[in-house]
Amino acid sequence: MSSNTGLHAFLYCSSICPEQPVTVVGDIVKAAREKNTALSLTGILVFDGQHFCQYLEGPSSSVSSMLQSICEDHRHTDVMLQFHGPVDGERQFKGWAIAYAQSEQELALDKIANFEGREALALFRQLLPNLDYC
Ligand SMILES: Cc1cc2nc3c(=O)[nH]c(=O)nc-3n(C[C@H](O)[C@H](O)[C@H](O)COP(=O)(O)O)c2cc1C
Repeated sequence: MSSNTGLHAFLYCSSICPEQPVTVVGDIVKAAREKNTALSLTGILVFDGQHFCQYLEGPSSSVSSMLQSICEDHRHTDVMLQFHGPVDGERQFKGWAIAYAQSEQELALDKIANFEGREALALFRQLLPNLDYC
């Protein structure tokens, strides 16, 4: 399958902006479930109280347009894109329009932010078994 028609994904880390309402993460996830379903996107948002880390997968055009919307969102800042491109194989989050997990390991997300590309993806995947997502 060519990279134009196959599965694409992105992974980024960011920091929540100051003075966000306590409902901010719930609001993001609720709206994302609806929109991601419509765009055939699946993935996960991890939040450790300060940092976000998000992996989303789907058709190339949906992935690219969502990445642009998220980068322009003023509820977070310092968006560092670790990976954006084609990925091999099946979806990792089949059936999850957006899974949500709270990470207790603050340093784990910081660490991912120090890597790029497939190395960052691999590190992120290592974190997944330790996360209790819903
Ligand atoms: C950390 C973070 C993660 C987000 N993840 C998603 C997502 O997975 N899907 C989504 O539709 N919007 C997500 N958003 C919200 C988008 O940035 C944007 O507000 C939303 O897509 C609505 O865009 P619209 O008003 O153009 O429809 C996220 C925002 C933030 C701050």
